[in-house]
Amino acid sequence: MTVEELYRIKQRVLERKQEESQSIARIVVCLDTGGIAAGAEEVLRTAEEEATRCTQPRAKVVRTGSFGVSSLDPLVMVQMPNDEPVAYVKMTPDKMRHVIQRHVIEGQIVQEYTVHVANNIMLNDYTVME
Ligand code: FES
Repeated sequence: MTVEELYRIKQRVLERKQEESQSIARIVVCLDTGGIAAGAEEVLRTAEEEATRCTQPRAKVVRTGSFGVSSLDPLVMVQMPNDEPVAYVKMTPDKMRHVIQRHVIEGQIVQEYTVHVANNIMLNDYTVME
């Protein structure tokens, strides 16, 4: 195989990845020890089951390591095609079902499950509410 052929294959893979990222919602579940201790495995299973209902856009569930804020676990990032990721915190299976229905299927961010920072003050700070 020549260098030119390898370059063309690389280009095709990059183009396919870009097309995919523009048409697929990504649901990223943080699954390090903090997340697992807080129940992230159940949240992941629920996300995988519920994602099968998503057709427009399709949804892909992926797991990742710690985001470094384990006090907010289980933590889930939802990134709709061509949009900024939204962090959902203190997730449960019920909240995951709700987020997939409202955010991924209906396109509405479920603000009450997110973390907000305004003027350096954290709103919806679940760490001080419990
Ligand atoms: S495991 Fe989720 S932030 Fe650490």
